[in-house]
Amino acid sequence: MLENLGRPGRVLLLGGTSEIGLAILAALRAPADTQVLLAGRDEQRLEAAGKDLPFRCAVLPFDALSAASQRSVIDRAFADGPVDVVIAATGVLTPQEELDRDPALAARMIDANFTSHVTTLLAAAGRLRRQGSGTIVVLSSVAAVRPRKANYVYGAAKAGLDAFARGLADALAGTGVRVLLVRPGFVIGRMTAGMPAAPLSSTPAQVGTAVAAALESRASRVWVPRALGPAALALRLVPRPLWRRMRR
Ligand SMILES: NC(=O)c1ccc[n+]([C@@H]2O[C@H](COP(=O)([O-])OP(=O)(O)OC[C@H]3O[C@@H](n4cnc5c(N)ncnc54)[C@H](OP(=O)(O)O)[C@@H]3O)[C@@H](O)[C@H]2O)c1
Repeated sequence: MLENLGRPGRVLLLGGTSEIGLAILAALRAPADTQVLLAGRDEQRLEAAGKDLPFRCAVLPFDALSAASQRSVIDRAFADGPVDVVIAATGVLTPQEELDRDPALAARMIDANFTSHVTTLLAAAGRLRRQGSGTIVVLSSVAAVRPRKANYVYGAAKAGLDAFARGLADALAGTGVRVLLVRPGFVIGRMTAGMPAAPLSSTPAQVGTAVAAALESRASRVWVPRALGPAALALRLVPRPLWRRMRR
């Protein structure tokens, strides 16, 4: 999808050190002159991540908890030309017990997982609409399907993000701009370190491959693994007394 533009493609990764985001970039079949903008808060780690990618990489400062940064990151990304793909991969998974002890942490988690995506992606959508082209990739989660007592604040933020992404896709229909909604299950990696893997778990590389393939097709949403789609339907049907007993 980045091959026939007649100019080098440009990709923005919000959450520029995200394992899943970087795996998506690594799986993209894109020319070597593609420019990748890695947006995040740790310049050194962003630069190190860029060195591992087969593209021309640059770093943009981005703190998802700062309203000014949410605005400026999109201005800066589009300042040097069109952006073809925006990947929204920022996220944190704060344990529910910590949120119970300090509800202020819950507000920060919702800002990182939901509010910052709404503000940055609305701004990006405006730019892409004017371009008449582009794709927004949103990292939702199976956690959006039904809140679990083990992480219901995270689930609530993801449910909000998932609803936002579906509304945004409808709002952009016919403009040439596409939204790809990605719903992974448990992904074994940095975010879930120390947690026992759940059924139908995957790796960042598997998510990357699935997203890269979906970008090449006309898909508007992708479950990773695919079997999670029907499994999610079943999750919605589990009787509530049973659901409540789930420990995680
Ligand atoms: N891992 C899973 O099981 C799983 C499953 C489904 C969906 N997802 C979603 O997929 C996305 C990527 O997850 P991942 O597995 O790749 O996790 P990850 O490797 O921990 O990446 C999270 C990214 O968010 C960034 N971030 C967090 N708070 C930020 C802030 N205030 N400002 C700027 N950047 C911030 C991190 O930056 P730093 O490096 O600076 O911390 C990092 O780049 C997330 O939205 C996550 O919720 C993950």
